[in-house]
Amino acid sequence: MRKTIYWIEGDGVGPEIWRAARPVIDAALAEESDMTFDWVELLAGEKARCETGSPLPEETLKILARAEVAMKGPLGTPVGGGMRSLNVTLRQGLDLYACIRPIRYFQGIESPVKHPDRVNMVIFRENTEDVYAGIEYAATTRECRRLIAFLREELGVAKIDDAAAIGLKPMTEAASKRLVRRALRYAVDHKQPSLTLVHKGNIMKFTEGAFRQWGYDVASAEFGEATCAEKKPVPGRIVVKDRIADAMFQEVLVRPENYHVIATPNLNGDYLSDALAAQVGGLGLAPGVNISDSLAFFEATHGTAPSIAGQDKANPGSVILCGALMLEHLGVPKAADRIRTSLEKAIAAKTVTIDLAGQIHDATTVGCAAFGEIVGANL
Ligand code: NAI
Repeated sequence: MRKTIYWIEGDGVGPEIWRAARPVIDAALAEESDMTFDWVELLAGEKARCETGSPLPEETLKILARAEVAMKGPLGTPVGGGMRSLNVTLRQGLDLYACIRPIRYFQGIESPVKHPDRVNMVIFRENTEDVYAGIEYAATTRECRRLIAFLREELGVAKIDDAAAIGLKPMTEAASKRLVRRALRYAVDHKQPSLTLVHKGNIMKFTEGAFRQWGYDVASAEFGEATCAEKKPVPGRIVVKDRIADAMFQEVLVRPENYHVIATPNLNGDYLSDALAAQVGGLGLAPGVNISDSLAFFEATHGTAPSIAGQDKANPGSVILCGALMLEHLGVPKAADRIRTSLEKAIAAKTVTIDLAGQIHDATTVGCAAFGEIVGANL
């Protein structure tokens, strides 16, 4: 069987990490399945700008809108041109409403905490709403003054300073529920013990507080047979619980083993994903996927690393692990396990790229290409 995988090379270190990662992904697949990948490149970023004049050609968006699976390297944010960020444009244009980040520890990497191995979570972050909607008004502008006047005169808001800048935080029942639904479906399919709704509903009652309630509503209405409340645990069922965001940051540090699947609004998810990735010492190794109802779009979570681009120094681990996630998604979990084990072996042997060498005692530094070859040989 052949499967089309659309891929975007990305800017900066993009070309070199792809060159190192793709053979590993193909080789792992060949070991475990009759499936083969047809890799079809789509243009975006600097390469697209040079070849077509646009950093995000219509053709790329059109193909992605009909695609089932795609992967991308990091994209730099173009200067000028009126586009805020290619990543945000892709997420919004393709309605990639959930950002999913698995966070786990790789043995041997130095971590800032004593027991990083206790972290094994999957974060589902809402990707389309919240303060990321981009509705903001700069202080003292005409629009901002009009909005302040409206809030005062029409809605009776008394406590608002004339000099304030204003940002809006729209959150809907539909978007919150579809995110929690995906997280619950994942928890059921992967037999996870718990799902935690992380919110700041004690302060933002009608947005974050509503997210919490909508989350519980989905759990009881659609997953009633598979879930239970924290206060009334039922063996074999997923405990659905909630935590206030600030308390959750403490919890993941002191009791990470109590948390498995997290569902959370956009901003909380942004903070929590990076904090947890740092906690396991693996920011450079974190894979992720953004999903819509039709497309799973896997992406290296780091940026273009311009200061090391083109020098064979980048760590291809994030793209390699994206490949593992994709293989799991396509129903070849053994190939995914093979990749993770091979990466673990390379880390245990202490022959790693320069970023990881800084986190491993007595490590030998190798280049991006050589690291890919080592992981490939370990398969
Ligand atoms: P960055 O992730 O590119 O760099 C942060 C630090 O991590 C740097 O020291 C860099 O050298 C290092 N680093 C990143 N990836 C690495 C790798 N694979 N191997 C070894 N070291 C690595 O973040 P920064 O500097 O904030 O952003 C640079 C550009 O990337 C910006 O244009 C930004 O918009 C873009 N970006 C794109 C993302 C995406 O496409 N998903 C995500 C984050 C940033």
